[in-house]
Amino acid sequence: MKIQSRFKEYEVIFEDNKVFLRDLVSEPNSEIVVDKNVYELYKDCFEEIPSERLFVVEATEKNKVVDTALDICEKITEIPAKRNATLISIGGGIIQDITGFVANVTYRGINWIFVPTTLLAACDSCIGGKTSLNYKKYKNLLGTFYPPDEIHICSEMFHTLTERDFKSGLGEVIKFNIMAGQNGLKNIEDNIEGLLERKPQIVDQFVHSSLSFKKKFIEVDEFDKGERIKLNFAHTFGHAIEVITEYEIPHGTAVAIGMIMANSISEKRGLISSDVVKRSEKVLLEVIDIDSKLLDKPLEDYMKAIRKDKKQVSESLTAVLISNYGENGELSVVHDVTEQEIDYAINYFKKLYRA
Ligand SMILES: NC(=O)c1ccc[n+]([C@@H]2O[C@H](COP(=O)([O-])OP(=O)(O)OC[C@H]3O[C@@H](n4cnc5c(N)ncnc54)[C@H](O)[C@@H]3O)[C@@H](O)[C@H]2O)c1
Ligand SMILES: [Zn+2]
Repeated sequence: MKIQSRFKEYEVIFEDNKVFLRDLVSEPNSEIVVDKNVYELYKDCFEEIPSERLFVVEATEKNKVVDTALDICEKITEIPAKRNATLISIGGGIIQDITGFVANVTYRGINWIFVPTTLLAACDSCIGGKTSLNYKKYKNLLGTFYPPDEIHICSEMFHTLTERDFKSGLGEVIKFNIMAGQNGLKNIEDNIEGLLERKPQIVDQFVHSSLSFKKKFIEVDEFDKGERIKLNFAHTFGHAIEVITEYEIPHGTAVAIGMIMANSISEKRGLISSDVVKRSEKVLLEVIDIDSKLLDKPLEDYMKAIRKDKKQVSESLTAVLISNYGENGELSVVHDVTEQEIDYAINYFKKLYRA
């Protein structure tokens, strides 16, 4: 799959099995940055890399900071190729966010190859070119746009993900399908079981369709000025849930909860039918596995978290809601979400989940 960006055209390559990894990392002028868990699980692929070309990072939000980025930059200066060096990063969204930043700022931009090893990174974040670092208490405050030159996806690697991380990725997969309208919803209803069983063919098919769906938005609006904002469907609520639970609930799971909340508001506003709401919920509840006590926070905590979100640009509250559900889903960016609606949506989810 080819993605057209203002910077360049780049490619997503689907690999049959993890054998490709050994060849990829043998490129001499490259620095390999790998997620610590991935390194431990796939050690045999990294055996022949000399230590000066290997940088192992623990994938935590605490490490998604400028200090880690600078350590990697420094390591790259030791490669003789300098500006022709290639950064090859292997891991999930955390590794992607750090290494994208590094590849962008080192020598004003070096070659970058990314291997997403989480379902979330493969079905969503690997394309679109966003890089991010956390700064002090601000998540993703620092960032740039810099897509990789190549992305290699090997769904065999998702087999080692924990249930928690795999289901988080499914949250985003479901999001793309619910956004796509009646056909998308039917497709995910028919395949959710196979996805939960991680059937390779089904997982591959949905990673591919998720990226094709996202591609349409980022190619017309790479820099998040208009159409791309719609990909933030449910994220206003999802981000708030991540913040109030101190990231105990992973991103995709928070987005899955956010979709139930967003749709409850759409239904209350008379924008979508209760049939669509109920069917979406049934699929979403399959991937939400949380301690619901985590959500027992006062409304003002949610409101504070929502107001801090960088997508909130004015006093009134912005969210992306499904506004019409035909053969193709229609989404609207609305700027008039009320505090009462947020309160309603939180209680709606809690009641549903605890039932
Ligand atoms: N740049 C973007 O466009 C974008 C979009 C969405 C999210 N993000 C960021 O992505 C991050 C979340 O990324 P994520 O959900 O991919 O998770 P992650 O990178 O936090 O990884 C989750 C866990 O999975 C482990 N892991 C990774 N691959 C594995 C494998 N194959 N087998 C076993 N374990 C494996 C990691 O070590 C980690 O413990 C957040 O920091 C978020 O802000 C970025
Ligand atoms: Zn997301």
